[in-house]
Amino acid sequence: MKLLSIALALAGLTLVNCAGVYKQRFLEQYNKIHNENNGYFSKEGVPYHAVETLIIEACDHGHQTTSEAYSYYIWLEAMNGAISGNFSSFNVAWKNMEDYIIPSHTSQPNTDLYNPKNPATYAPAMDTPEQWPTSLEPGVPVGEDPLFQELQTTYDTYDVYALHWLLDVDNTYGFGDSQGTCSGGPSVKKPSFINNYGRGPSENVWMAIPSGICEAFKYGSKTGFSGIYSKGNPVPNWKFSVAPDADARAILGAFWASRWATEKGELSQITDTLAKASKLGDYLRYAMFEKYFKRVGNCIDPYKCPGGHDRESAHYLLSWHVGWGGSVSRNGGYAWRVADATVHFGYQNPLAAYALSQEPTLKPKSPTAAQDWAASLERQLEFYEYVQSAEGAFGGGVVNSWKDRYDTPPDDIASSTFHGMFYDWQPGGHNPPSTRWFGMQPWSTDRLAQYYYVTGDKKAKAILDKWVSWVISEITFEGDNYKLPNSLEWSGVPPNVHVKVADYGSGIGPAAATARTLSYYAAKSGNKAAKQVAKKLLDGMWKLYRTNLGVSSEEQPDYDHFQDKVYVPPGWSGVYPNGDVLNSSSTFLSIRSFYKKDPQWHKIEARLNGGPAPTFTYHRFWDQSEVALAMGAYGLLFNE
Ligand SMILES: *[C@@H]1O[C@H](CO)[C@@H](O)[C@H](O)[C@H]1NC(C)=O
Ligand SMILES: *[C@@H]1O[C@H](CO)[C@@H](O)[C@H](O)[C@H]1NC(C)=O
Repeated sequence: MKLLSIALALAGLTLVNCAGVYKQRFLEQYNKIHNENNGYFSKEGVPYHAVETLIIEACDHGHQTTSEAYSYYIWLEAMNGAISGNFSSFNVAWKNMEDYIIPSHTSQPNTDLYNPKNPATYAPAMDTPEQWPTSLEPGVPVGEDPLFQELQTTYDTYDVYALHWLLDVDNTYGFGDSQGTCSGGPSVKKPSFINNYGRGPSENVWMAIPSGICEAFKYGSKTGFSGIYSKGNPVPNWKFSVAPDADARAILGAFWASRWATEKGELSQITDTLAKASKLGDYLRYAMFEKYFKRVGNCIDPYKCPGGHDRESAHYLLSWHVGWGGSVSRNGGYAWRVADATVHFGYQNPLAAYALSQEPTLKPKSPTAAQDWAASLERQLEFYEYVQSAEGAFGGGVVNSWKDRYDTPPDDIASSTFHGMFYDWQPGGHNPPSTRWFGMQPWSTDRLAQYYYVTGDKKAKAILDKWVSWVISEITFEGDNYKLPNSLEWSGVPPNVHVKVADYGSGIGPAAATARTLSYYAAKSGNKAAKQVAKKLLDGMWKLYRTNLGVSSEEQPDYDHFQDKVYVPPGWSGVYPNGDVLNSSSTFLSIRSFYKKDPQWHKIEARLNGGPAPTFTYHRFWDQSEVALAMGAYGLLFNE
């Protein structure tokens, strides 16, 4: 036995040497993520947002998961195929995604009641919680949905094929909205669709009021959770929310799987999965449209800005959100769809647009899809140029609906438009501002760099040249330690946007994404400095921050909000599946009593009793995948 294990160890060692240092690091990190004892996946094989449960960021619990985590999972398995030669785990990942986070037919009843000539009813956004709930304004013109008929014909279904953005994997809240089940309750032992998104214009997670996606009026008030954010006379209903950057990232993963499997003569292993990725890309076109399919450009005053016909409502960019929903019962039933008027540079994915317009294995089946994606690719490149600061970083995005209610923008904004849309340095999330976090920079720029690597596009290179020299100038090394930007400050309006780094840090995910961006850029351009910085970032994090579970460093999040009040209109009262009461006295903690049983709760308790701010070492699925994907990409590109 002993001899055998030595022989195996030696064989392993040989493999190590053949694989090269960085590919070997990919495998080490990949194996940690997949080690059953490490807790990255649920018993169903669903990747959790984080191994640790007490974590509050966009999710409000670590054993939720997001479409973001799934998209990293897909990409991770594609690269595993490239490095190990076995693509079966890529198929497994897509199947799991379909099983749990892409709503099945039974999860979206009555989609055939949708009227593409009247996709949804306009509801204005409000600035402050006190102005909630808002009411629907049926008199405001909306446009027609130009994709519906084509998609229905291509796929012979009224359903939407897209990832919902959030799952309560362990059914911690107890809504029990698993596939095909509406308000199944705490006894459901499967991942449950959930949403914590309806938190007004601020998008502040501490104000989030999570609810299930299907309201049978069993939880919450006698009309479920309705009445908090909007007025109306609701009937039992369901609704899903898409975060389009995640769906696009899954398609990017599929693109690489296609390329790498082709190189290895293994394409036939994954053709069925690629057809699904292509279908996802067909439906992802919804992200290119204005929220209510109104005209794109100079869209001021909800009553005056008309609905669009055909592509008049297309901005062709990857917007912040796509949503769809409907009634639970047929009697008096309905269905609706919305896209988004808000566009963030951080969501753009030129490689996915390239794949869906050019790559034979991924071009969608609908007749107009590839041309839509070709238009999107061109528009995305133009958009990066538009929001690029004088220094090189990308600032913010554009909106077709000022303040989410078609207000009149200030003069300086109104005078600088992008295809008639208005510049917004913090589109989407305002609290915290979505463009302040440095991580958005490499997240998006990485895709641009990959697109440049694949095509050699000169326009992309010119944009990247500027970004790369900015980022390199802002990264410093001291031995193995590295510092890169953490948060950014913005001023000005295009073409005079300026950025200043507010503070520096050594965040693992952003560092890994930056290293990967620089690697793809260097591999195509031959830029030696970019390659050198990528290598030093990767070596630094590997030496300094490896843990038993992956690569992570201690952090001190701002968790002084557990007793912050959530906003509930006076007089409204409801109950969570576990009995927690929701009313105008509720706090973040009071509607999440389960946190008091969390293994790390004592840290919060000590803080509430006057102790120091606690520290945490997290293993987020996306962060850990970033490390693996950056190591693997460096290894594949430079064969080191
Ligand atoms: C590929 O990996 C799967 C597990 O993901 C395994 O079951 C299968 O045997 C592997 N195939 C080969 C040829 O190694
Ligand atoms: C909210 O519910 C809690 C728990 O039942 C109760 O103690 C409190 O008085 C309620 N607050 C209001 C404003 O109704």
